Amino acid sequence: MPRHIDVETLRNWLEEKRPVTVIDVRSDEDREQWSIPGSIHLNAYEALKAGERSVLNDAELPENQPIVTVCNLGKMSERGADELSRRGLDVLSLAGGMKAWSLSWNTADVKLSSAIVTQIRRAGKGCLSYLISSDGEAIVIDACLPPDVYSSIAKGLFVRIRCVLDTHVHADHLSRSKQLAEAVGAELFLPAQDRVNFPYRPIRPGDVIEAGPIQLEAIPTPGHTVESMCFLVNGEALFTGDTLFTSSVGRPDLHANIEQARSRASLLYRSVKQLLALGPNVVVLPGHTSSPPAFDGVPISERLGVVSERLKDWVESESTFVERILSRIPPTPPNSERIVELNESGELPTEDPTELEAGANRCAVG
Ligand SMILES: [Fe+2]
Repeated sequence: MPRHIDVETLRNWLEEKRPVTVIDVRSDEDREQWSIPGSIHLNAYEALKAGERSVLNDAELPENQPIVTVCNLGKMSERGADELSRRGLDVLSLAGGMKAWSLSWNTADVKLSSAIVTQIRRAGKGCLSYLISSDGEAIVIDACLPPDVYSSIAKGLFVRIRCVLDTHVHADHLSRSKQLAEAVGAELFLPAQDRVNFPYRPIRPGDVIEAGPIQLEAIPTPGHTVESMCFLVNGEALFTGDTLFTSSVGRPDLHANIEQARSRASLLYRSVKQLLALGPNVVVLPGHTSSPPAFDGVPISERLGVVSERLKDWVESESTFVERILSRIPPTPPNSERIVELNESGELPTEDPTELEAGANRCAVG
């Protein structure tokens, strides 16, 4: 019988930089969707499924460190682990495969003059959330992982989470902000809208959300969704949600027909122009990344001046922007209708949430 490793243990090993070789035995197509940072791809899926025992015989693997095999659900990786174990290697199969890996995470810090921003990266999916802390107080933005992840980070920093907020109603992952606010006794803030069916404190244009010395200024940025907002912390860093990424912009088409998508693309143009004018030194902290965040502690962020340079062809004119964006819309994320429905109701599904959230995020147009 193959031995197993769970997601949390593998996550800890990668975080601690413990030597481990991760072998991804999935198909090329599955690998392209998402992967574990630093893993080695050996496409053995079909062969393992067909019971070909020799498929991993020739793989050159280190003998002095554990090997972890991974597949989609943790079945073929068991077969792979079995085969490699016969060579005398120390092999473990990742229990639950990439579906379970969806909830893995790592962090990177951004030090501002007045606060520390912990970027919490859902390594299994690319969603980025943030814990801003200063002087014992903290604010969390776009919680996308179970509440205990944020409360344990807050505990480690000796801060108390006072406010939890979302930049918009998400369509690609289940928001955990309501659950987090309830778990830690914080106030839940959301951009003012009539979409969600649970109580929250509405954020209106220009509002400032405060926790100790942290001041978050709300900037309305309709486009990706109508209610989307960005938040400027102490004039230094900008939490851009799915409005602006480090080299792309948000998609305007989810839950919209083509005419609505066109008008949202126009709104997005104006929102992006407004953000780019905030000054070249402002640090952009986006809501997603399109490639798996490494366990390297390097924040996924960029100065606004650099982002502005990268997007200069995009923002030449409103018509260029709108046409460009509408011609490059990626496929709709799987299960987005159901995810929006749940985010509007504030409930988490009774089934395994990673089932619904499967697949890479597709929030950007670049
Ligand atoms: Fe979004």
